[in-house]
Amino acid sequence: MPSLRDAARGRILFGGDYNPEQWPEEVWEDDVRLMKEAGVNSVTLGVFSWARIEPRPGAREFGWLDRVMDLMHTHGIGVVLATPTASPPPWMGARHPETLPRTEDGSVVWYGSRQHFCASSPVYRRYAAAVTEDLAARYAGHPALTVWHINNEYCTHCWCDETAAHFRRWLESRYGTVEALNEAWGTAFWSQRYDAWTEVVPPRKAQYMRNPAQELDFKRFTSDALMECYAAERDIVVRHTPHIPVTTNFMPLWSGQDAWAWSAQEDIVSVDVYPDPKDPQGGQYNAMLADMTRSQAGGAWMLMEQAAGPVNWRGVNHPKPAGLNRLWSLQSVARGADAVCYFQWRQSRQGSEKFHSGMLTHAGEHGRTFREVKQLGAELATIGAAVSGAPVPAEVAVLHDWDAWWASGQEGRPSTLLDYTEVVRSWHRALWETGTTTEFARPDGDLSRFRMVAVPQLYLLSDAAIDNLVAYVRGGGTLVCGFFSGVADVDDRIRPGGMDERLRELFGIRTLHEWWPLDADTTVECDGFRGGLWSEELETEPGAEILSAYRGGELDGLPAVVRKDRAYYVSTLPEPDALRALLGKVVTRAGAGPVLAGLPEGVEAVHRGELLFLLHHGRGDVTVPVPGKRVDLLTGTEFDGSVELGRYGVAVLRDLTP
Ligand code: GLA
Repeated sequence: MPSLRDAARGRILFGGDYNPEQWPEEVWEDDVRLMKEAGVNSVTLGVFSWARIEPRPGAREFGWLDRVMDLMHTHGIGVVLATPTASPPPWMGARHPETLPRTEDGSVVWYGSRQHFCASSPVYRRYAAAVTEDLAARYAGHPALTVWHINNEYCTHCWCDETAAHFRRWLESRYGTVEALNEAWGTAFWSQRYDAWTEVVPPRKAQYMRNPAQELDFKRFTSDALMECYAAERDIVVRHTPHIPVTTNFMPLWSGQDAWAWSAQEDIVSVDVYPDPKDPQGGQYNAMLADMTRSQAGGAWMLMEQAAGPVNWRGVNHPKPAGLNRLWSLQSVARGADAVCYFQWRQSRQGSEKFHSGMLTHAGEHGRTFREVKQLGAELATIGAAVSGAPVPAEVAVLHDWDAWWASGQEGRPSTLLDYTEVVRSWHRALWETGTTTEFARPDGDLSRFRMVAVPQLYLLSDAAIDNLVAYVRGGGTLVCGFFSGVADVDDRIRPGGMDERLRELFGIRTLHEWWPLDADTTVECDGFRGGLWSEELETEPGAEILSAYRGGELDGLPAVVRKDRAYYVSTLPEPDALRALLGKVVTRAGAGPVLAGLPEGVEAVHRGELLFLLHHGRGDVTVPVPGKRVDLLTGTEFDGSVELGRYGVAVLRDLTP
């Protein structure tokens, strides 16, 4: 199967979305000159060019794209060629209003923006397939083509009648009979029993809370329906070019697509990453998304989009201070990226994203952003051969699962303050701050290569996943599990006892009496730390060790953190320092250790292959103790025993010790 390796060919791909259709052709020559100056070796073309390629139904205008493809090839720049299907031309919505999505209350999502298509619409699918077919046929043999990029950030949701029919087909294949559906959805509750398939609809706007199992299935269905659209286009391009790898760019930690399932359908896993430059934890967030994407890819991945400066979709859009773009880009490389690309090459002058930065901003080639882009391009070229394709070793896994995420975010839960992604982020942050490299894994995946597995919060776990976790601990692994986990089965049915009995046994919990969620900005005292968000009224078995108990309040004296052998259960969300200390201890005990001992605060160390990346997230100067003689591949400077780093400094070290 083709892979990122085929496109990267020993380099780090560097470039971005290129939208030449927004510019007069004279500008293209200037683009190429500056791309060469910046070390750009890859551009993503055609993402939103459907109306340009097919200005009216069935018409084809490829001449401009031929010229751009040729221009790129002439200058040795590879093309990640996108199918344009994320933004249907206005004619489609005008002539075929049934292709437009409808919201939960039935209103139409109109054209005039982008991503206005119903994934279940046969008309949309037919036009998308036709334009993909012609695009693939036309450029199959083009020497500039390196990667196929299908659609863009699949993210639409639709509740229309066509979707309803499609949802029913999906449900029929999952459940077989209406009786089985009724059983899975628990429709005995509130007189929701269905008598025939024709009565079943997506969870549309309703009087009060909707059936949570119906909602869960609709999320599963929506991810699958979008994946069908992806697979249809992928199959077309693969038929024309079996040797060219295919990707579609994820939004990271995006609930709409089960990225575990999707990534199995891709040759390259790619993602669009936009940490807020103003966020003091932006570096951690970037690290987490890199770890997640690398795990989905099973190795090297593609940073398809990031911003060289500000985005334009936050309330207040902060530019990146000098050096931050370089730091976060090299951090992505340290954590497995073999492509560092941007949205977009040249900042637009018109349209909704004219205030979104590009690699080449309104300030032009003399602007700071472009200067920094050029520096980064040169540095990536310097380290590319040494880095590209190299693995990132990790001995600790964080479990993450879309079903659990979907189910835990629904109405009618013990606390609306519980935000799955925030809990995952807290746990990853704690591990990141201990200097431990983590991977993400699915709860029913192979965990045998990890010394420790962390479960931040998995409300829903399948039987297979529970057996997997139990077997993992029995087999010598260390498991640390957060609160409100193992509560529901795959139909979102609460397990007897409020937590699966295999897990209760594993952690030495006899009874889970109650969940005691906490109010916003309140904490609960525990031995040695304070917890937030959540607490639980637990009773342990004699064999369980209570590592920390609640102090004060209703739960005074009851267990907060318990351990039975190598299985730990944490019934609250310890404040960040405490979670770091707790997980750090367990990591050490599990023999997974940090990458480098004695790191100054704010310095991250990651191994990639033979290389050691040091990344400094602070602005002051620091000295990092690093044993042995090393050379920094970025500068050629040699170090012995320690490495100096300045503001947002990065070193890519090769060991010179014989
Ligand atoms: C997404 C899209 C791009 C662009 C950027 C802006 O990632 O894929 O087309 O809109 O957001 O940040």
